[in-house]
Amino acid sequence: MARVTLDKVNKIYPSRHGDVHAVQDLDLAIEDGEFVALLGPSGCGKTSTLRMIVGLEAISGGVIAFDGQPVNDQTPEQRNVAMAFETYALYPTFTVAQNLAFPLEVKGVDKATRDEKVAEVARLLRIEPILDSFPRQLSGGQQQRVSLGRALIRDPAVFILDEVMSHLDAHLKFQMLFELKRIHQTLERTIVYVTHDQMEALALADRVAVMSDAKLQQFGDRDTLYDRPANTFVAGFIGEPPTNFLEAEVRDDGTTMRLTIRDASAAFVPDGPRAAAIRDQGLRTVIVGIRPQNLHVRHDEGDEQITATVEINEYQGEHSILSLRDGAAEFRAMVPPSVKTGEGETIDLSYRSRDVMVFHPETEVFIS
Ligand SMILES: Nc1ncnc2c1ncn2[C@@H]1O[C@H](COP(=O)(O)OP(=O)(O)OP(=O)(O)O)[C@@H](O)[C@H]1O
Ligand SMILES: [Mg+2]
Repeated sequence: MARVTLDKVNKIYPSRHGDVHAVQDLDLAIEDGEFVALLGPSGCGKTSTLRMIVGLEAISGGVIAFDGQPVNDQTPEQRNVAMAFETYALYPTFTVAQNLAFPLEVKGVDKATRDEKVAEVARLLRIEPILDSFPRQLSGGQQQRVSLGRALIRDPAVFILDEVMSHLDAHLKFQMLFELKRIHQTLERTIVYVTHDQMEALALADRVAVMSDAKLQQFGDRDTLYDRPANTFVAGFIGEPPTNFLEAEVRDDGTTMRLTIRDASAAFVPDGPRAAAIRDQGLRTVIVGIRPQNLHVRHDEGDEQITATVEINEYQGEHSILSLRDGAAEFRAMVPPSVKTGEGETIDLSYRSRDVMVFHPETEVFIS
């Protein structure tokens, strides 16, 4: 097991058309036994980061250390890291058991120990009934488990998974998420899991590192990412449907602050601590963020209210998504499917002032 630290890690790919700075000054401290997800849009540098941790890619700058020992110059074997890809091909002429045993055979592990290990991993992944099958006889999900098994059997200090589930159907994905979580709880192994799917990241990981544009945007648990996003990128990336962002002018009489939405009639009222933070920065305009889940049709004691016109009422089964307009401002709300307000009709919505997020108008950094 290992604690993995990245200190100002950079990856630059030289190219004839100019260098690609794929990872920029990345700092990350992954605790021993922690399950961490690297989350971000395509091309943000997730795979490059993993490949540097594994040792498959040279580090252009900075230090990667396992348990405090720099591993920059170590081979993947010396680091004892196992990586599983979605496309991790199994040997077609080997049975599942032989596929699993292979990494041990390469290491020169004796037959009895190999058999014992294969049985143990097969039990963990629940693939005992298919040990004598060949890969072509397996379903996609079964093949994936065998791939995972082949990485796990090496007893790695760090276990790395890159988009291992992106081609699985929703049902299998759910099953594998559950299995992975169970494996992590059983083995207490340090796991780094890469995905661009926030649902997977939030469901699995103790902490999520959100990346965009080669840079780490925020590293935190789901509540922190959800309630205190570092900037508009994280606020927009975490949560479905995404956070509504609205430009607003600050109207402040020193006791009550109203954030008046530009070219619209609505105004949001931030709670006391938020108003104080805006006052401290002396801002005249801000970006207001409000999650569609935090705009309600019911009105609770102390809630604030806004009115908007419904443009689309989209039924989605367990809830409906209202696309709303107020002047030039457009935003969305998630409401119960019993809300039948139709196109062109107005609706009153409530929110708690503490659910109003406020961001800096230029830096887009979270203020409060
Ligand atoms: N070997 C390479 N040579 C040159 N550029 C590369 C190389 N590998 C990756 N890149 C570039 O580095 C950037 C980051 O790529 P990376 O594969 O790390 O992204 P990613 O976050 O894993 O994306 P995805 O979600 O699509 O897998 C991209 O702009 C990519 O084009
Ligand atoms: Mg990738």
